[in-house]
Amino acid sequence: MKEIILNHPMITHKLSILRDKNTGTKKFKELISEISMILCYEATKDAIMHDITINTPLEKLKTKYIDEDDYAFVPILRAGMSMVDGILKVMPNAKIGHIGLYRNEETLEPVEYYYKMPSNIESREVFILDPMLATGGSALATIKKLKKDGVKKIKFLCIIASPEGIENIKREFDDVEIYCASKDRCLNEKGYILPGLGDAGDRVYGTK
Ligand code: PRP
Ligand code: URA
Repeated sequence: MKEIILNHPMITHKLSILRDKNTGTKKFKELISEISMILCYEATKDAIMHDITINTPLEKLKTKYIDEDDYAFVPILRAGMSMVDGILKVMPNAKIGHIGLYRNEETLEPVEYYYKMPSNIESREVFILDPMLATGGSALATIKKLKKDGVKKIKFLCIIASPEGIENIKREFDDVEIYCASKDRCLNEKGYILPGLGDAGDRVYGTK
């Protein structure tokens, strides 16, 4: 199973601001968006390329292009929506599916409340978007739904992953690639990532 961690001074710098509890909603959202854009570049390193012939002002050129229709992006509501902005900067015509999940605060089990995917989802490569991969429960529930719908290639893009979350995905779905900006130390007893950034959804939407 492929596990890619963005390893770059600019990412470390941006994460330092993002993690800071004094960083406000506006900056927080901007940083999630910027890092998501970079995650998207990284996750499309092996993109399917199609042949095309174009005319430069000087000559004919046989070149390659990416068909955005080959892909679908699936943010896990709510916090995952904050990553869509950055993704659309890279793939402006991206098809977006939505899955609504929240973690039951006692059991930490994901509870589904919404599921709507673009047409022909089974023939697209799907990138799941969620800033936080903690226990992996939300990620696993999403992967299971997509696989049931016939999706064959899935990548999971997150800002911060816990070692436990990565292991849990690896154990069940060895074929799903994980891209994250940071793999943090561990989970605390309430299922929060340490050092982490707190509750991503609350910080994006200012709900606490
Ligand atoms: C957060 C986060 C993930 C989930 C990660 O969402 O955005 O979806 O927790 O935890 P897990 O790996 O243990 O499942 P939350 O359930 O707080 O919902 P929200 O996005 O609506 O705030
Ligand atoms: N969800 C979050 O938003 N933050 C965590 O640290 C864990 C789950």
